[in-house]
Amino acid sequence: MSAPPLDRHGRPLGSLRISVTDRCNLRCRYCMPEESYQWLPRPSLLTFEEITRLAAIFARVGVRRIRLTGGEPLLRRDLAQLIAMLAGLGVLDDLALTTNGMLLAGAAQSLRAAGLGRVTISLDTLRPDRFTALTRSARHADVLAGIAAAAPLFPRLKLNTVVMRGVNDDELTDLVEFARGYGAEVRFIEYMDVGGATDWSSDAVVSRQEILKTLERSFGGIEPIAGDNPSAPAERFRLPDGTTVGIIASTTTPFCGRCDRARLTADGVWYLCLYGETGTDLRELLRRGESDAGLEETIRRVWSARTDRGAEARLAAPGRGALYQIGALQADPHREMHTRGG
Ligand code: GTP
Ligand code: 5AD
Ligand code: SF4
Repeated sequence: MSAPPLDRHGRPLGSLRISVTDRCNLRCRYCMPEESYQWLPRPSLLTFEEITRLAAIFARVGVRRIRLTGGEPLLRRDLAQLIAMLAGLGVLDDLALTTNGMLLAGAAQSLRAAGLGRVTISLDTLRPDRFTALTRSARHADVLAGIAAAAPLFPRLKLNTVVMRGVNDDELTDLVEFARGYGAEVRFIEYMDVGGATDWSSDAVVSRQEILKTLERSFGGIEPIAGDNPSAPAERFRLPDGTTVGIIASTTTPFCGRCDRARLTADGVWYLCLYGETGTDLRELLRRGESDAGLEETIRRVWSARTDRGAEARLAAPGRGALYQIGALQADPHREMHTRGG
């Protein structure tokens, strides 16, 4: 077997995020603020067999960590079956899921039994009225039930909070305490100007710096934790009582220099960057009858030519505003965060 390829900045391909559906049962303001969306045509979605075949090929090229995302991945029928197929490959160190938690209470047990290793649940607020305003759904209680069901089944549970100024930035302390109650780790995410975030403005971003200041005010001196996976987007910190929290600061402090991740959309387009303009249509190759060796060769070649540092480029953009407006998203829904995988 040939050595794993490095891209033009010397970065290996270690992690693949696979979106299993572009559909979502929430409409979070930072991700899907519009009234209507254009969905990927159903026949274009990769089957579980196609996803598993690609995952095996990616593993030969170096991928050891797979995360299933969406849209909302639990909207994909029989997701546990896909998890069993991926776990059954026996080549992954890490198989994880990012979910909004709405359907998790009913699914957690079967996901665990199928071989899912880790779960991350989005939780932006503890207040039902805010949840409704933020997501346009009144089912906050379902998310809390999902967290309660998953916590005993999945160690190292994480909760993701996108922090928005004037929306939920007064809840950081409460969220840390809520997560602690479940032995979970909360990660505060800077609001990003990704595709889909058409309402983004720099005024609404609460920076890593501000988040740290708030945490210090509430909890006292906090210590950075050294020695974590250097390619992970989250920086982790320890509070005086031992509780850990993460901060994902892609907006003000991008980690592009260490980024080892790629993304596969539900219809099989492979992107090298969250912000990448174009991707490689692996579905087309698959359905044209390309061999495993041919697909592997393509993946190696494309990764070796990778130069993407999308978040750094955004940081340097003059007069930074939303990346795309609605017309550009409608012209190519692959630009949407919910298509590309949150
Ligand atoms: P682990 O480190 O495996 O626990 O997961 P993760 O943090 O990679 O995955 P998760 O789905 O929880 O991602 C959290 C958030 O990090 C995402 O919702 C994004 O806001 C941000 N993020 C994830 N991937 C990328 C990426 O490739 N580039 C940038 N700039 N941000 C990312
Ligand atoms: N900024 C930051 N994170 C985002 N997500 C979606 N849109 C954005 C955005 N504009 C991430 C959140 C959410 C996951 C599904 O996608 O972390 O929890
Ligand atoms: Fe990786 Fe692109 Fe995200 Fe930077 S912006 S961390 S290169 S996916």
